[in-house]
Amino acid sequence: MADRDPAWRVLPKPSHPHDSAPLHVTGAARYADDGPEPADMLHLAFGQSAHAHARILSMDLSAVRAAEGVVQVFTAADIPGANDVSPVAGDDRLLADGEVICVGQAIFLVAATSQRAARKAARLAKIDYEPLPACLTIEAAQAANSLIEPTQRMARGDADAALANAPHSLTGSFDMGGQDHFYLEGQVALATPGEDGQIHLLCSTQHPSEVQHLVAHMLHRNSADVTVEVRRMGGAFGGKETQAALFAAAAALVADKTGRPAKFRCDRDDDMVMTGKRHAFRVGYDVGFDAQGHVLALRLRLASRCGATVDLSPAINDRAMFHADNCYWLPDVEIVSERLKTNTVSDTAFRGFGGPQGMLAIERIMDDVAAHLGHDPLAVRCINLYGPGRDVAPYGMTIADNIAPQLIARLRTDARYDARSAAIAAFNAASPIIKKGIALTPVKFGISFTTTHLNQAGALVLVYADGSIQINHGGTEMGQGLYIKVAQVVADVFAVPIDRVRITATRTDKVPNTSATAASSGADLNGMAAYNAAMTIRDRLTAFLARTFGCADTDVHFTPEGVIAGTERLTFAQLCRKAHIGRISLAATGFYATPGIAYDRAAHQGRPFYYFAYGAAVSEVAIDTLTGEHKVLAVDILHDVGRWLNRQIDIGQIEGGFIQGQGWLTTEELIFDDQGRLLTHSPATYKIPTASDRPAHMTISLWDGENVEPTINRSKAVGEPPFMLAISVFSALTRAVAAVAPDVRALPRLDAPATPERILRAVSEHRAR
Ligand code: MTE
Ligand code: MOS
Repeated sequence: MADRDPAWRVLPKPSHPHDSAPLHVTGAARYADDGPEPADMLHLAFGQSAHAHARILSMDLSAVRAAEGVVQVFTAADIPGANDVSPVAGDDRLLADGEVICVGQAIFLVAATSQRAARKAARLAKIDYEPLPACLTIEAAQAANSLIEPTQRMARGDADAALANAPHSLTGSFDMGGQDHFYLEGQVALATPGEDGQIHLLCSTQHPSEVQHLVAHMLHRNSADVTVEVRRMGGAFGGKETQAALFAAAAALVADKTGRPAKFRCDRDDDMVMTGKRHAFRVGYDVGFDAQGHVLALRLRLASRCGATVDLSPAINDRAMFHADNCYWLPDVEIVSERLKTNTVSDTAFRGFGGPQGMLAIERIMDDVAAHLGHDPLAVRCINLYGPGRDVAPYGMTIADNIAPQLIARLRTDARYDARSAAIAAFNAASPIIKKGIALTPVKFGISFTTTHLNQAGALVLVYADGSIQINHGGTEMGQGLYIKVAQVVADVFAVPIDRVRITATRTDKVPNTSATAASSGADLNGMAAYNAAMTIRDRLTAFLARTFGCADTDVHFTPEGVIAGTERLTFAQLCRKAHIGRISLAATGFYATPGIAYDRAAHQGRPFYYFAYGAAVSEVAIDTLTGEHKVLAVDILHDVGRWLNRQIDIGQIEGGFIQGQGWLTTEELIFDDQGRLLTHSPATYKIPTASDRPAHMTISLWDGENVEPTINRSKAVGEPPFMLAISVFSALTRAVAAVAPDVRALPRLDAPATPERILRAVSEHRAR
């Protein structure tokens, strides 16, 4: 049957709105904090470390215990099992035990009758610390050789020799800051004790199975005793891949110890202080090139601030290395990645997962080469693209699906890059104070978890006798539209309207051992698992119909007009009723594991990715050289989502991802003081983009093509890749700064984020050259 191909579709592709859209806008969507609260429920707060690094000499919690509303106070000694909420390395404590390693670290846990009472009481502790030396910055950690794991090296050829032989070479460095996730719904978990030691957790996490596993270990129980449920998150962006475990474990501990339901709803300021962020990076490079700008040699050093524990930093820094080529062929290359341990909150997953940092590095290097030669940066980018005979990544994977050259060429034409560049040059020549810049930058983002075993998913499809369908899968909904995409897949298999399909909360008691919804792979993995489950049921129904009506399996067709079996036609509901009476099972699980990928981490060689998602953006900006302020004037995006599952959802992801990337590179700045305290821990001091920062002109077009790999519907992942399209904003800002001294053949020094202060400094430095 041709329609066994998961790329097959019965219906003309509809793009249904997000299944919760009406609930979101009317306030009827239930988040973890929105359900009715049991009368005896306890509210929780942490007592937090005041020091970046210190030994706890003594703790007097008597005033906390005596405070109004306080029911019980817990310390590390009260934890029955493992005092661990870490994803991999076992080094994240639920409650500090003897030593604190960053400001804000949880030391004790207060359970009280109201959130206010818990928070007030938590401040009354008297803790005696012996401060210890703290590493707070990349430089300090480098000086102390403070690392979370050994420095990694990925290399091909002989970068040193190629550098020595290159006609031109440049040395450069720059810094990029981290980023707070600023999900609208903060960290929250509600634990309800069940009978016989069971625990149910309603929680805002991208990784229900990990929370289940950690809570079971922490309580010294089995995974089967703990159920984690997630209906939706109010945004996550990687910030709930590992970070939700702390709050969930705290709630579970209290529920277990007191026998009462317990909710941890983290205050926004505490959330910003206590949870991990995007890694800040320092980049250093030596690049060798010829007169046209072909990169001949690259020595790249990526140093990142990982914070106090390992968390996901190894994989995140690996992904930075994997994306330090972006779309470009680097013949002789050495990428060295230093993962620095600092006494700051442990940095974690954030949309792009290190990819943006690696990609910004190489894009800046392209800008540097172009500035040095006096060439248009796009010309330098284009001659360095992967192509026939120059199509192997530094990690040994052949780039088999390269569409970057064609995609860039089309965007260049559609967005009138060349005409606008000329117009901007003319504008700048006549405008002494306002300077404009334009840049086109591409994206090539690898899809798959680079930890190979994570690339698996399960689903459960239940068809009821009335022809309605419930689906459940391991993926979580964080606003990205995963549920509606998977629902569409299942609706298509049975050729029923989408309103026959009810999407249910993600639960560890329905689908076990799931991976985090991350690495943009939610729809690829869960969509295929749900497809497989639905096909199992459809095959049973097909065989049943063939038997019942005496026709061949190939004479059975599921169509929007009903199910056809030979000369018979039934509605899907009639068929389900008939099958139920015929004692046919209408429930099935489905499973999917991404084929063909394998990676040797020790050698940094292999095929870590199933395929790549591509895109490109043209951004035009203006800066005010007197104040350093800027405006993003116009953005045109051409992005590749393969043969889309939901066009509107994907466009939403592209727009949201771009704007979030714009925030990272322009306004969002994390400032720690010299004691390691985060000063920018509220919206008053931490500036995420607002509606008025969205460029007035913004177009988003989808590349017309399909995935060369047989993914579901031949679609491509879309969650993270568009984030990196915003590198075009940073590049355009650099060019606007360069316009203050058009004859200077050098790239203005500009670190990210390009705040007004940094742009102003860059302008005056560049003028002085
Ligand atoms: N979109 C919304 N609205 N909210 C989010 O939290 N997270 C992003 C992206 N898009 C996010 C989002 C991140 S970090 C990832 S990895 C993907 O969604 C995860 O979902 P997917 O795999 O289903 O694309
Ligand atoms: Mo996304 S950073 O992989 O959760």
